[in-house]
Amino acid sequence: MDPATLAAWYSTAARDLPWRRTRDPWAILLSEVLLQQTQVARGLEYWSRLLVRFPTPAAMAEADLEEVMHLWQGAGYYARGRRLHDLARAVCDPEAPWGGLLPSPDTAEDVVSALQSLPGIGPYTAAAVASIAHDLPAAVVDGNVRRVVARQRASASPTDAEVQRAAARWMEAAVEAGVSPSVWNQAVMDLGATVCRPRGVRCSACPVQATCKSTLTEEGPESFPSPKPRRVTTEHLVAVVDIDEHGRPHLVQRPATGRFAGLWGPPMHDANSEEAKVAKASRTTAGHVTHLLSHRRLEVEVLLGKAALGRAPDAHPTSSLDDRVLALAMDHADL
Ligand code: ADE
Repeated sequence: MDPATLAAWYSTAARDLPWRRTRDPWAILLSEVLLQQTQVARGLEYWSRLLVRFPTPAAMAEADLEEVMHLWQGAGYYARGRRLHDLARAVCDPEAPWGGLLPSPDTAEDVVSALQSLPGIGPYTAAAVASIAHDLPAAVVDGNVRRVVARQRASASPTDAEVQRAAARWMEAAVEAGVSPSVWNQAVMDLGATVCRPRGVRCSACPVQATCKSTLTEEGPESFPSPKPRRVTTEHLVAVVDIDEHGRPHLVQRPATGRFAGLWGPPMHDANSEEAKVAKASRTTAGHVTHLLSHRRLEVEVLLGKAALGRAPDAHPTSSLDDRVLALAMDHADL
């Protein structure tokens, strides 16, 4: 990707955002923290409100957490408000070397590390503040940057380390070409936000299409990056299938909320629960059923016992998991 071409695009296409007219690290930090999970339009409103009331870290440090949270109300992700208050107090701590200001080249040898040592500042925010406020060559990586990297290289599943390395290399090339780190980081993010969008990509408006490998693929740019596989967690359960002398299982109706709400099935318990232990003591194991949900794997041990009076499963709505559990139990039942 040619740095000068993207920088030239940014000089005319940059979004006009008020925090781009300041170099005040505190104001920039506030904007970056807000933009992490809040839409730009809404972020604007909160940014002005917060900055009027808390123009410096000291102003926020002196305020009660309650007042900060009150101003934060409606912006969502409230942990951010709390952490910002912690951060303001940390830089105003008389024992700390920061004198009430965010770490800067005047007070820290390694500004990015110093910023990251403070509450609530992660790698993204540290690189954003260091580059935008101080023009230090720290490459930011957010969802936009990841998407632009993946598409330029036609890389479906770049690892975090690969994206970080690619962004760092781009930053080096930008600095070498005389582009400021502040401009470079924001240009890549703006490209991702306004042109190289997740859906509705606008390749005809893209200044760096010539180097974009994803446009040459059969699948097209929007297939990159492919969605991250969801982390599947496994849940261990026991199903208690008690069968009466007519071969009918004891069934219960599941609660109105939660998994399989309102459907019928044999009682099921968490494998580590007291109910599971009690149920196992007087029953045999028929076998196991594995069931995949969108982000969970259920491993169900099927217990077999005797019931005084069962129900006809066909007369009750059941989940496909319960159908499999009942079928396994029936296969093993001594009828
Ligand atoms: N998203 C979050 N911060 C941004 C910035 N400074 N420029 C462009 N997009 C952003």
